[in-house]
Amino acid sequence: MTAFWSWFVAAGTIVFIIWCIWLVSWSAKQGPQGKEDEDLVGHKWDGDLEEWNNPAPKWWLYLYFITIAWAVGYMVVYPGIGAFEGTAGWTSEGQYEQEVQRAEERYAPIYEKFSAMDFDTLVQDEEALALGGSLFASYCTTCHGSDARGAPGYPNLTDGDWQWGDSEDAIIATLTSGRMAVMTPWAQILGSDEAVDNMVRYVQSLSGMVEADAGTMSAQAQFTTFCAACHMPDGTGNQAVGAPNLTDDIWLYGSDADTIRTAIEQGRNGQMPAHGEFLGENRTRILAAYVKSLSQ
Ligand code: HEC
Ligand code: HEC
Repeated sequence: MTAFWSWFVAAGTIVFIIWCIWLVSWSAKQGPQGKEDEDLVGHKWDGDLEEWNNPAPKWWLYLYFITIAWAVGYMVVYPGIGAFEGTAGWTSEGQYEQEVQRAEERYAPIYEKFSAMDFDTLVQDEEALALGGSLFASYCTTCHGSDARGAPGYPNLTDGDWQWGDSEDAIIATLTSGRMAVMTPWAQILGSDEAVDNMVRYVQSLSGMVEADAGTMSAQAQFTTFCAACHMPDGTGNQAVGAPNLTDDIWLYGSDADTIRTAIEQGRNGQMPAHGEFLGENRTRILAAYVKSLSQ
Protein backbone atom coordinates (compact mmCIF):
# COMPACT_ATOMS: atom_id res chain seq x y z
CA MET A 1 0.00 0.00 0.00
CA THR A 2 1.43 3.42 -0.91
CA ALA A 3 1.70 6.14 1.75
CA PHE A 4 -1.10 8.10 0.09
CA TRP A 5 -3.62 5.27 0.25
CA SER A 6 -2.50 4.42 3.76
CA TRP A 7 -3.27 7.96 4.92
CA PHE A 8 -6.46 8.03 2.89
CA VAL A 9 -7.76 4.86 4.55
CA ALA A 10 -6.55 5.98 7.99
CA ALA A 11 -8.20 9.40 7.65
CA GLY A 12 -11.45 7.83 6.45
CA THR A 13 -11.49 5.40 9.36
CA ILE A 14 -10.76 8.09 11.98
CA VAL A 15 -13.28 10.57 10.58
CA PHE A 16 -15.90 7.85 10.56
CA ILE A 17 -15.23 6.91 14.19
CA ILE A 18 -15.40 10.58 15.26
CA TRP A 19 -18.67 10.92 13.40
CA CYS A 20 -20.05 7.84 15.22
CA ILE A 21 -19.02 9.32 18.58
CA TRP A 22 -20.65 12.63 17.71
CA LEU A 23 -23.83 10.97 16.48
CA VAL A 24 -24.23 8.83 19.58
CA SER A 25 -23.45 11.74 21.97
CA TRP A 26 -25.84 13.98 20.12
CA SER A 27 -28.68 11.52 20.37
CA ALA A 28 -27.81 10.91 24.07
CA LYS A 29 -28.36 14.62 24.72
CA GLN A 30 -31.87 14.52 23.37
CA GLY A 31 -33.72 14.44 26.66
CA PRO A 32 -36.99 12.63 27.17
CA GLN A 33 -39.53 14.31 25.00
CA GLY A 34 -42.77 15.64 26.30
CA LYS A 35 -46.12 15.06 24.92
CA GLU A 36 -46.01 18.00 22.58
CA ASP A 37 -47.53 17.52 19.22
CA GLU A 38 -44.25 18.31 17.46
CA ASP A 39 -42.77 15.09 18.90
CA LEU A 40 -45.34 13.06 17.09
CA VAL A 41 -44.01 11.46 13.92
CA GLY A 42 -47.41 11.65 12.37
CA HIS A 43 -48.14 7.97 11.89
CA LYS A 44 -51.46 6.82 13.22
CA TRP A 45 -52.99 3.37 13.49
CA ASP A 46 -56.33 2.05 14.66
CA GLY A 47 -57.70 5.51 15.24
CA ASP A 48 -55.64 6.61 18.29
CA LEU A 49 -52.33 4.63 18.23
CA GLU A 50 -49.57 7.22 17.46
CA GLU A 51 -45.79 7.09 17.01
CA TRP A 52 -43.60 9.36 19.24
CA ASN A 53 -40.10 10.54 18.40
CA ASN A 54 -38.44 9.48 21.70
CA PRO A 55 -34.66 8.94 22.15
CA ALA A 56 -33.24 5.43 22.51
CA PRO A 57 -32.88 4.19 26.11
CA LYS A 58 -29.56 4.97 27.89
CA TRP A 59 -28.34 1.34 28.12
CA TRP A 60 -28.75 1.12 24.37
CA LEU A 61 -26.52 4.19 23.85
CA TYR A 62 -23.90 2.79 26.24
CA LEU A 63 -23.73 -0.31 24.04
CA TYR A 64 -22.80 1.97 21.16
CA PHE A 65 -20.05 3.64 23.21
CA ILE A 66 -18.68 0.24 24.21
CA THR A 67 -18.62 -0.85 20.57
CA ILE A 68 -16.76 2.30 19.55
CA ALA A 69 -14.23 1.91 22.38
CA TRP A 70 -13.72 -1.71 21.36
CA ALA A 71 -13.09 -0.67 17.73
CA VAL A 72 -10.54 1.98 18.78
CA GLY A 73 -8.76 -0.47 21.09
CA TYR A 74 -8.74 -3.13 18.40
CA MET A 75 -7.14 -0.80 15.88
CA VAL A 76 -4.45 0.23 18.35
CA VAL A 77 -3.51 -3.42 18.98
CA TYR A 78 -4.10 -4.95 15.52
CA PRO A 79 -3.39 -3.60 12.03
CA GLY A 80 -6.45 -1.72 10.79
CA ILE A 81 -5.76 2.00 10.37
CA GLY A 82 -4.02 2.36 7.01
CA ALA A 83 -0.53 0.86 7.14
CA PHE A 84 -0.24 1.16 10.95
CA GLU A 85 0.95 -2.25 12.12
CA GLY A 86 -0.68 -2.34 15.54
CA THR A 87 1.10 -2.66 18.88
CA ALA A 88 0.75 -6.47 19.06
CA GLY A 89 2.88 -7.01 15.94
CA TRP A 90 0.31 -9.42 14.49
CA THR A 91 0.52 -10.24 10.75
CA SER A 92 -1.40 -12.77 8.71
CA GLU A 93 1.90 -14.21 7.38
CA GLY A 94 3.17 -14.45 10.94
CA GLN A 95 0.14 -16.43 11.99
CA TYR A 96 0.41 -18.66 8.92
CA GLU A 97 4.09 -19.34 9.55
CA GLN A 98 3.37 -20.13 13.16
CA GLU A 99 0.75 -22.67 12.14
CA VAL A 100 3.07 -24.23 9.56
CA GLN A 101 5.81 -24.46 12.16
CA ARG A 102 3.47 -26.05 14.69
CA ALA A 103 2.37 -28.61 12.08
CA GLU A 104 6.01 -29.34 11.20
CA GLU A 105 6.92 -29.84 14.81
CA ARG A 106 4.04 -32.23 15.18
CA TYR A 107 4.78 -34.24 12.04
CA ALA A 108 8.60 -34.12 12.02
CA PRO A 109 9.06 -37.13 14.34
CA ILE A 110 6.52 -39.15 12.34
CA TYR A 111 8.22 -38.35 9.03
CA GLU A 112 11.60 -39.06 10.54
CA LYS A 113 10.45 -42.51 11.52
CA PHE A 114 9.10 -43.14 8.02
CA SER A 115 12.16 -41.87 6.17
CA ALA A 116 14.30 -44.28 8.19
CA MET A 117 12.24 -47.22 6.88
CA ASP A 118 13.12 -48.85 3.59
CA PHE A 119 10.48 -48.67 0.88
CA ASP A 120 9.25 -52.27 1.14
CA THR A 121 8.65 -51.88 4.88
CA LEU A 122 6.88 -48.59 4.29
CA VAL A 123 4.55 -50.29 1.79
CA GLN A 124 3.48 -52.65 4.63
CA ASP A 125 3.30 -50.06 7.41
CA GLU A 126 -0.30 -49.38 8.41
CA GLU A 127 0.35 -45.94 9.84
CA ALA A 128 2.22 -44.81 6.73
CA LEU A 129 -0.51 -46.18 4.48
CA ALA A 130 -3.22 -44.39 6.46
CA LEU A 131 -1.33 -41.12 6.05
CA GLY A 132 -0.73 -41.90 2.36
CA GLY A 133 -4.41 -42.67 1.92
CA SER A 134 -5.47 -39.31 3.29
CA LEU A 135 -2.92 -37.51 1.10
CA PHE A 136 -4.25 -39.45 -1.88
CA ALA A 137 -7.81 -38.45 -1.02
CA SER A 138 -6.80 -34.78 -0.91
CA TYR A 139 -4.62 -34.53 -4.00
CA CYS A 140 -5.13 -37.42 -6.38
CA THR A 141 -8.77 -38.52 -6.47
CA THR A 142 -9.89 -35.75 -8.84
CA CYS A 143 -8.11 -37.60 -11.64
CA HIS A 144 -7.55 -41.16 -10.44
CA GLY A 145 -10.92 -41.58 -8.69
CA SER A 146 -11.64 -42.12 -5.01
CA ASP A 147 -11.02 -45.86 -5.46
CA ALA A 148 -7.83 -45.14 -7.51
CA ARG A 149 -9.25 -47.15 -10.39
CA GLY A 150 -8.94 -44.25 -12.80
CA ALA A 151 -11.01 -43.52 -15.88
CA PRO A 152 -10.26 -43.52 -19.62
CA GLY A 153 -6.97 -41.60 -19.96
CA TYR A 154 -6.31 -41.75 -16.21
CA PRO A 155 -4.55 -44.95 -15.22
CA ASN A 156 -5.96 -47.46 -12.78
CA LEU A 157 -3.41 -47.53 -9.96
CA THR A 158 -4.75 -50.71 -8.36
CA ASP A 159 -3.81 -53.14 -11.13
CA GLY A 160 -0.35 -54.63 -11.53
CA ASP A 161 0.22 -52.87 -14.86
CA TRP A 162 2.58 -49.91 -14.79
CA GLN A 163 3.07 -47.50 -17.63
CA TRP A 164 6.07 -45.76 -16.07
CA GLY A 165 7.29 -48.40 -13.60
CA ASP A 166 6.62 -49.43 -10.01
CA SER A 167 10.08 -49.24 -8.43
CA GLU A 168 10.49 -46.76 -5.58
CA ASP A 169 12.46 -44.44 -7.88
CA ALA A 170 9.98 -44.70 -10.75
CA ILE A 171 6.90 -43.90 -8.68
CA ILE A 172 8.66 -41.08 -6.86
CA ALA A 173 9.81 -39.65 -10.20
CA THR A 174 6.21 -39.88 -11.51
CA LEU A 175 4.89 -37.95 -8.51
CA THR A 176 7.73 -35.46 -8.23
CA SER A 177 8.25 -34.37 -11.83
CA GLY A 178 5.03 -35.62 -13.44
CA ARG A 179 4.92 -37.56 -16.70
CA MET A 180 4.25 -36.44 -20.24
CA ALA A 181 3.41 -39.26 -22.63
CA VAL A 182 4.39 -38.69 -26.26
CA MET A 183 2.59 -40.79 -28.81
CA THR A 184 2.53 -38.91 -32.12
CA PRO A 185 -0.15 -39.38 -34.83
CA TRP A 186 0.58 -42.18 -37.29
CA ALA A 187 -2.25 -42.20 -39.88
CA GLN A 188 -0.28 -40.36 -42.58
CA ILE A 189 2.81 -42.45 -42.15
CA LEU A 190 0.87 -45.72 -42.27
CA GLY A 191 -0.39 -44.42 -45.63
CA SER A 192 -4.04 -45.48 -46.09
CA ASP A 193 -7.31 -46.08 -44.23
CA GLU A 194 -6.86 -49.74 -44.89
CA ALA A 195 -3.40 -49.73 -43.33
CA VAL A 196 -4.81 -47.98 -40.24
CA ASP A 197 -7.64 -50.55 -40.06
CA ASN A 198 -5.14 -53.37 -40.28
CA MET A 199 -3.01 -51.76 -37.58
CA VAL A 200 -6.03 -51.44 -35.29
CA ARG A 201 -6.72 -55.14 -35.72
CA TYR A 202 -3.07 -56.00 -35.32
CA VAL A 203 -3.00 -54.15 -31.97
CA GLN A 204 -6.14 -56.07 -30.96
CA SER A 205 -4.53 -59.34 -32.05
CA LEU A 206 -1.63 -58.71 -29.68
CA SER A 207 -3.92 -59.37 -26.73
CA GLY A 208 -5.81 -62.14 -28.52
CA MET A 209 -8.94 -60.06 -29.18
CA VAL A 210 -8.94 -60.91 -32.91
CA GLU A 211 -7.36 -63.69 -34.96
CA ALA A 212 -4.28 -62.90 -37.05
CA ASP A 213 -4.99 -62.77 -40.80
CA ALA A 214 -3.43 -61.40 -43.98
CA GLY A 215 -4.30 -57.82 -42.94
CA THR A 216 -2.71 -58.07 -39.51
CA MET A 217 0.34 -59.75 -41.06
CA SER A 218 0.97 -56.74 -43.27
CA ALA A 219 0.44 -54.43 -40.28
CA GLN A 220 2.99 -56.40 -38.29
CA ALA A 221 5.74 -55.28 -40.67
CA GLN A 222 4.75 -51.64 -40.16
CA PHE A 223 4.52 -52.15 -36.40
CA THR A 224 8.11 -53.38 -36.35
CA THR A 225 9.22 -50.36 -38.34
CA PHE A 226 7.22 -47.60 -36.67
CA CYS A 227 5.88 -48.72 -33.33
CA ALA A 228 8.43 -51.16 -31.95
CA ALA A 229 10.83 -48.38 -30.99
CA CYS A 230 8.50 -47.51 -28.11
CA HIS A 231 6.10 -50.44 -27.74
CA MET A 232 8.90 -53.02 -28.36
CA PRO A 233 8.80 -55.58 -31.21
CA ASP A 234 6.53 -57.92 -29.24
CA GLY A 235 4.25 -55.03 -28.14
CA THR A 236 4.98 -55.41 -24.43
CA GLY A 237 5.78 -51.70 -24.04
CA ASN A 238 8.61 -49.72 -22.53
CA GLN A 239 8.41 -48.03 -19.16
CA ALA A 240 11.30 -45.70 -19.98
CA VAL A 241 9.06 -43.78 -22.40
CA GLY A 242 5.72 -44.68 -20.82
CA ALA A 243 4.65 -46.77 -23.82
CA PRO A 244 1.92 -49.12 -22.58
CA ASN A 245 2.01 -52.87 -22.90
CA LEU A 246 -0.38 -53.66 -25.77
CA THR A 247 -0.42 -57.43 -25.18
CA ASP A 248 -2.37 -57.48 -21.91
CA ASP A 249 -6.06 -56.73 -21.51
CA ILE A 250 -5.42 -53.52 -19.57
CA TRP A 251 -6.11 -50.35 -21.53
CA LEU A 252 -5.48 -46.74 -20.67
CA TYR A 253 -7.96 -45.39 -23.20
CA GLY A 254 -9.95 -48.43 -24.31
CA SER A 255 -9.77 -51.61 -26.38
CA ASP A 256 -12.57 -51.02 -28.90
CA ALA A 257 -11.57 -50.41 -32.52
CA ASP A 258 -12.63 -46.74 -32.54
CA THR A 259 -10.59 -45.85 -29.46
CA ILE A 260 -7.49 -47.60 -30.78
CA ARG A 261 -7.99 -45.93 -34.16
CA THR A 262 -8.11 -42.52 -32.44
CA ALA A 263 -4.81 -43.28 -30.69
CA ILE A 264 -3.18 -44.18 -34.00
CA GLU A 265 -4.74 -41.37 -36.06
CA GLN A 266 -4.42 -38.50 -33.57
CA GLY A 267 -1.78 -39.66 -31.12
CA ARG A 268 -2.06 -39.56 -27.33
CA ASN A 269 -0.43 -37.21 -24.86
CA GLY A 270 -1.53 -38.15 -21.36
CA GLN A 271 -0.08 -35.88 -18.73
CA MET A 272 0.47 -36.52 -15.06
CA PRO A 273 1.16 -33.15 -13.37
CA ALA A 274 4.26 -32.65 -11.20
CA HIS A 275 3.50 -32.65 -7.47
CA GLY A 276 7.00 -32.64 -5.97
CA GLU A 277 7.24 -28.98 -5.15
CA PHE A 278 4.20 -28.73 -2.98
CA LEU A 279 4.15 -32.25 -1.57
CA GLY A 280 7.80 -32.17 -0.49
CA GLU A 281 10.09 -35.19 -0.23
CA ASN A 282 8.54 -36.89 2.83
CA ARG A 283 4.96 -36.78 1.74
CA THR A 284 5.90 -37.82 -1.83
CA ARG A 285 7.63 -40.96 -0.54
CA ILE A 286 4.70 -41.88 1.71
CA LEU A 287 2.27 -41.36 -1.19
CA ALA A 288 4.50 -43.48 -3.43
CA ALA A 289 4.38 -46.29 -0.85
CA TYR A 290 0.60 -45.96 -0.68
CA VAL A 291 0.28 -46.12 -4.48
CA LYS A 292 2.52 -49.16 -4.58
CA SER A 293 0.45 -50.87 -1.88
CA LEU A 294 -2.72 -50.42 -3.95
CA SER A 295 -1.57 -52.94 -6.54
CA GLN A 296 -0.50 -55.59 -4.02
C1 HEC B 1 7.51 -42.37 -29.52
C2 HEC B 1 7.05 -43.56 -28.88
C3 HEC B 1 5.81 -44.25 -29.47
C4 HEC B 1 5.64 -44.72 -30.74
C5 HEC B 1 6.64 -44.71 -31.88
C6 HEC B 1 4.31 -45.29 -30.77
N1 HEC B 1 3.71 -45.15 -29.56
FE1 HEC B 1 1.87 -45.82 -29.07
N2 HEC B 1 2.04 -44.95 -27.27
C7 HEC B 1 3.18 -44.33 -26.80
C8 HEC B 1 2.91 -43.80 -25.52
C9 HEC B 1 3.90 -43.02 -24.64
C10 HEC B 1 1.56 -44.11 -25.23
C11 HEC B 1 0.78 -43.70 -23.98
C12 HEC B 1 0.01 -42.45 -24.30
C13 HEC B 1 -0.58 -41.78 -23.08
O1 HEC B 1 -0.27 -42.20 -21.98
O2 HEC B 1 -1.37 -40.82 -23.25
C14 HEC B 1 1.07 -44.84 -26.34
C15 HEC B 1 -0.23 -45.34 -26.44
C16 HEC B 1 -0.67 -46.14 -27.45
C17 HEC B 1 -1.97 -46.78 -27.48
C18 HEC B 1 -3.05 -46.65 -26.43
C19 HEC B 1 -2.94 -47.80 -25.45
C20 HEC B 1 -3.99 -47.85 -24.36
O3 HEC B 1 -3.75 -48.56 -23.38
O4 HEC B 1 -5.05 -47.19 -24.46
C21 HEC B 1 -2.01 -47.50 -28.62
C22 HEC B 1 -3.18 -48.34 -29.13
C23 HEC B 1 -0.77 -47.30 -29.32
N3 HEC B 1 0.03 -46.47 -28.55
C24 HEC B 1 -0.44 -47.89 -30.52
C25 HEC B 1 0.68 -47.51 -31.24
C26 HEC B 1 0.92 -47.94 -32.60
C27 HEC B 1 0.03 -48.85 -33.40
C28 HEC B 1 2.08 -47.36 -32.99
C29 HEC B 1 2.77 -47.43 -34.33
C30 HEC B 1 1.97 -47.00 -35.45
C31 HEC B 1 2.59 -46.59 -31.87
N4 HEC B 1 1.70 -46.71 -30.85
C32 HEC B 1 3.76 -45.90 -31.88
C33 HEC B 1 4.38 -44.21 -27.44
C34 HEC B 1 4.61 -44.53 -28.76
C1 HEC C 1 -4.72 -33.65 -13.30
C2 HEC C 1 -4.94 -35.06 -13.20
C3 HEC C 1 -4.03 -35.86 -12.31
C4 HEC C 1 -3.76 -35.69 -10.97
C5 HEC C 1 -4.25 -34.58 -10.04
C6 HEC C 1 -2.93 -36.78 -10.59
N1 HEC C 1 -2.68 -37.58 -11.66
FE1 HEC C 1 -1.53 -39.24 -11.64
N2 HEC C 1 -1.75 -39.39 -13.65
C7 HEC C 1 -2.57 -38.63 -14.43
C8 HEC C 1 -2.49 -39.06 -15.82
C9 HEC C 1 -3.26 -38.49 -16.99
C10 HEC C 1 -1.56 -40.11 -15.85
C11 HEC C 1 -1.13 -40.89 -17.06
C12 HEC C 1 -0.04 -40.14 -17.76
C13 HEC C 1 0.28 -40.81 -19.06
O1 HEC C 1 -0.63 -40.89 -19.90
O2 HEC C 1 1.40 -41.28 -19.19
C14 HEC C 1 -1.12 -40.30 -14.47
C15 HEC C 1 -0.20 -41.25 -14.09
C16 HEC C 1 0.10 -41.56 -12.77
C17 HEC C 1 0.97 -42.64 -12.35
C18 HEC C 1 1.72 -43.59 -13.27
C19 HEC C 1 0.99 -44.89 -13.36
C20 HEC C 1 1.75 -45.92 -14.14
O3 HEC C 1 1.10 -46.89 -14.58
O4 HEC C 1 2.97 -45.80 -14.29
C21 HEC C 1 0.99 -42.63 -10.97
C22 HEC C 1 1.77 -43.56 -10.06
C23 HEC C 1 0.14 -41.53 -10.55
N3 HEC C 1 -0.39 -40.92 -11.67
C24 HEC C 1 -0.10 -41.21 -9.24
C25 HEC C 1 -0.73 -40.03 -8.85
C26 HEC C 1 -0.79 -39.58 -7.49
C27 HEC C 1 -0.24 -40.31 -6.27
C28 HEC C 1 -1.43 -38.38 -7.51
C29 HEC C 1 -1.69 -37.42 -6.36
C30 HEC C 1 -0.52 -36.78 -5.81
C31 HEC C 1 -1.78 -38.09 -8.89
N4 HEC C 1 -1.35 -39.12 -9.67
C32 HEC C 1 -2.46 -36.97 -9.31
C33 HEC C 1 -3.36 -37.59 -14.00
C34 HEC C 1 -3.34 -37.06 -12.73
